[in-house]
Formats: sequence, C-alpha cells, structure tokens
Amino acid sequence: MKLIYLVALTFVLSLHVTYNESGDDWTGTCQDGMLQSPFAIKDSKSEIIPTNTTRSVVLYPHFESNFTMGHLTSYSYALYSDWGYLTIAVPSQEPFNVYSSAFHFHSPSEYMLNGKYYDLEMHTVMKNPNAPGSIYVLGIFFDVNGKTNKFISQVMDSEKKFTDVNLGDIFSGIDKIEEFYEFEGSLTTPPCTEGVKWFLWSEIQDLDENQRLFFHKFWAGNASFADKNGNNRNLQEENDRLVIKYGERDDMSIKLEFSIFLLIVSISLCLS
Ligand SMILES: *[C@@H]1O[C@H](CO)[C@@H](O)[C@H](O)[C@H]1NC(C)=O
Ligand SMILES: *[C@@H]1O[C@H](CO)[C@@H](O)[C@H](O)[C@H]1NC(C)=O
Ligand SMILES: *[C@@H]1O[C@H](CO)[C@@H](O)[C@H](O)[C@H]1NC(C)=O
Ligand SMILES: [Zn+2]
Repeated sequence: MKLIYLVALTFVLSLHVTYNESGDDWTGTCQDGMLQSPFAIKDSKSEIIPTNTTRSVVLYPHFESNFTMGHLTSYSYALYSDWGYLTIAVPSQEPFNVYSSAFHFHSPSEYMLNGKYYDLEMHTVMKNPNAPGSIYVLGIFFDVNGKTNKFISQVMDSEKKFTDVNLGDIFSGIDKIEEFYEFEGSLTTPPCTEGVKWFLWSEIQDLDENQRLFFHKFWAGNASFADKNGNNRNLQEENDRLVIKYGERDDMSIKLEFSIFLLIVSISLCLS
C-alpha cells in the first residue's frame, strides 16, 4: 500500500507542466475539450439558487490536520496527506463524503469571478471512494487585505520542515458552506481531464503581503519560471455549461445593471 502510494506520488511529481504560453500550447483534451477550466464566471450568467430553499446544496467541511512537508512541483506548491473530507448534502438524496489527499495553489487565481482575479487560489482535490474515477475540487480564493491567514502561515512553514498543517483552520467557526458556485469543468493542468465537479467558495479568505510574496516568488515573481507567467492557465470558453450560484447574486453586478438601467431611462427621457 505504502509502495503504491509512493509510486503514485512520484508519478504526480514528475509530470512536467510548463506555463510558457499559459497553457495555450498544451495538447489533447486541453486543446479539444468543451468543458475546460478555468473560465470567467459571472453571476449575471449563473443560475442563482438562494440558500435555505428546497434546491439548496450544502457542503459540510470535516477537514483536519496532518504532519507533513510541502513540495514545489513543476506547476504548483502541493501538500499531499490525508486531509479529511467534505460532506455534500444534495436535497432528497443521501449525503455523501468526498475525501482529500492533496491541495495545491495557483497565483494569481485561475478563475475570474465577476471580472476579478484574486491573489491566490487553492485547489483541494477530493475523491468519492464509492465512485471510482470521480474528481471533486473545492476552490478557495485568498486576497491581500493585510490580515495574516493562520492556515497559510502553516503552509509556508511546511516548505522547510515537517509541520502540523490544519486544513480545518480555514473553516474554524464554520460548520457549513452555503454560498458557493457549482459547475462541471476539468483539471487545469495536463491531461486536463473533464468530468471534474467544481465547487468555488464565494467567501474570500484573508492574506497578508508576505504570504502573497511566498507564492509570488515561485511563479509570477520568478524569471526562471516561464518568463514570470503565473501558474494560472489562461481562461477557457464557458460554452454551454450550467453554472449554479448558491446564495445571493453579487451586489456589484446588480448595482451595475441598475445603473445602466437608470442611464438608459435618463437617455430615453432626454431624447423624448
Ligand atoms: C438557513 O437556515 C438556518 C437555520 O435553519 C440558519 O441558521 C441560516 O442562517 C440560514 N441561512 C441563510 C443564508 O439565511
Ligand atoms: C496523515 O496522512 C497519512 C497519509 O498521507 C495518513 O496515513 C495518516 O493517517 C494521516 N494522519 C492523520 C492524523 O489523519
Ligand atoms: C523558479 O522557477 C524555476 C523553474 O521552475 C524553479 O526551479 C525554481 O525553484 C524557482 N525559484 C523559486 C525561488 O521558487
Ligand atoms: Zn489546481
């Protein structure tokens, strides 16, 4: 068992991914796929399902700590260990668990939310043991606001030595996630496998400037890394996919549309 794990880990670490063209030169499904990730997400193009309604999906984080070291791979900074699980509660179905054995980072973010990229995006990769081959990813965004993120400090310590890293610290005081985006997409690195179920948490996490620089130095701040391209793949086409936002529509887009509405009304009044 241990040996299989080591072989699998070595395989993952040895896949060499380059960002010389931010992914535009990747081949196969990366080139031909119709449900590729990342893409630009807009609340105005998403189906909004308010919380606490009969169609609401709720995610219950049961993530925990492990004692481990981080690995700088060709495409990310990754931590491999057992990190606990996420319970997915879909209305009128038995809740089920998906287990995480890895998470890694992209800086700047890969997805764009309502026109904005964030400083850092973490991908928690999860599997359902009862559905072999299934891949779930919970995406979490971080943006510099001057507040030190306790979890990210642990991740930074794990670069040089074995460290207790607690994925659960991101969710302290939070027993459920009710506001997030859900859609189908792909892995954002080769082989860009599709059929990945994505959840993007809409609550943006704290980050301080030093913490941003920890990731920036690997990629966008590194002249030897693809000419300072970040390790974020270029945006892909959304195509005909359904994006659901559980929660509320982002206020900004409502305000913006309302302003445009007022502008049109004023212009019409002026012209008439
Ligand atoms: C949903 O309902 C629960 C109690 O049933 C409540 O604690 C929670 O705040 C509600 N969420 C929202 C966003 O209204
Ligand atoms: C930490 O992860 C390893 C596998 O990576 C697992 O064997 C071990 O049980 C985990 N420890 C805890 C406390 O969950
Ligand atoms: C810069 O990128 C190169 C190539 O990927 C890598 O070997 C090196 O470790 C990176 N430097 C830092 C400071 O992360
Ligand atoms: Zn990723």
